[in-house]
Amino acid sequence: MTGEETDTATGDAAAADSMEGLAVRACERCPELVESRSQIVDGVGPADADLLFLGEAPGANEDEEGEPFVGRSGSILDDALRDAGLARVDVRITNCVRCRPPENRDPTSEELANCRGYLERELGLVDPALVVTLGKVPSEHLLDRSVAVTKEAGDVVDVRLGERSYRVVVSVHPAATLYDGSQRETFFETIARAADIAGVGGDDGGQAGLDDF
Ligand code: URA
Repeated sequence: MTGEETDTATGDAAAADSMEGLAVRACERCPELVESRSQIVDGVGPADADLLFLGEAPGANEDEEGEPFVGRSGSILDDALRDAGLARVDVRITNCVRCRPPENRDPTSEELANCRGYLERELGLVDPALVVTLGKVPSEHLLDRSVAVTKEAGDVVDVRLGERSYRVVVSVHPAATLYDGSQRETFFETIARAADIAGVGGDDGGQAGLDDF
């Protein structure tokens, strides 16, 4: 696709121009993030995943390894996926913002807006059956309203982005389970529910259960 073309199904032309498939090759839209990042952290996982997890932005570990959710939050997500009969390689994991904000601050609304085209293009190309928003920032970014994540965790919402509609499940951020033990059950139940709605994992999922051996 050339820079002049707009692919209405998969995001804006400028985003398409800076992306090679699902990867952002070079981007300098956010000067502070260009300073703070050591690399752009793109989404990982199958390009046709049924289940897509959306986080906020890379932290220090993610910035170092170039992969979303590889630190402590990532191992909690991995545990919850395993409980739901899934593995990390079965799902797509990405962030609203692809560069690490300084001091791990929240991304600004301008940074979220700058990265939005990449996210919409990724969602359009992957076309997941279900998106799980991990925490307040991604939930509010997709639902375009304020979200009380602990109250709304597990809720299913249809979200319209341009010409497409996505089914979204709201979740607390995996790190919330570290600060408040009561959130662990909420988080694990939400991930299991999401796997069920997306029709993946569990006893019938792509992953072989122990009983299969
Ligand atoms: N938290 C996020 O929101 N994203 C990551 O990639 C890691 C931690």
